[in-house]
Amino acid sequence: MPEPEEGQAFFAENCMSCHGRDGRGNGPGSAGLSPMPPDLTLLARGNDGMFPTARSLSYIWGDPDQGHLARVMPQFGGAMADDLVPLEVDGVLTPTPRALAAVLAYLESIQR
Ligand code: HEC
Repeated sequence: MPEPEEGQAFFAENCMSCHGRDGRGNGPGSAGLSPMPPDLTLLARGNDGMFPTARSLSYIWGDPDQGHLARVMPQFGGAMADDLVPLEVDGVLTPTPRALAAVLAYLESIQR
């Protein structure tokens, strides 16, 4: 499993502009966005204390079939290399792109 530090680097490059340096929103590119990027350190709190791995994974990855739908946040599936690592999603080990597994490890590490 990739460590949170690896995901933090990916986050800094791809997500910080909207979600902010520490994931709490208010990145430099978030001004005027509607809806505003949510505070990503509160995902577990909004989900009975459990980090919502499956939901976050599918949200970040995006759904190619829904590419036509307007969505403020870009989909990152296409931007991730396809070297796969096993990630536990809802109790099932699921082959997941390493960059995505890393960014999820980072997000889980910043929950408060
Ligand atoms: C262009 C701005 C932008 C960028 C870049 C961006 N996001 Fe988002 N993100 C948003 C917005 C806005 C939302 C709220 C939902 C929506 O309208 O898309 C969101 C929602 C989310 C959610 C869903 C939270 C929930 O309630 O389930 C997650 C997780 C997330 N972002 C993670 C990321 C990660 C990880 C990256 C980088 C790989 C990233 N975002 C890059 C703007 C952005």
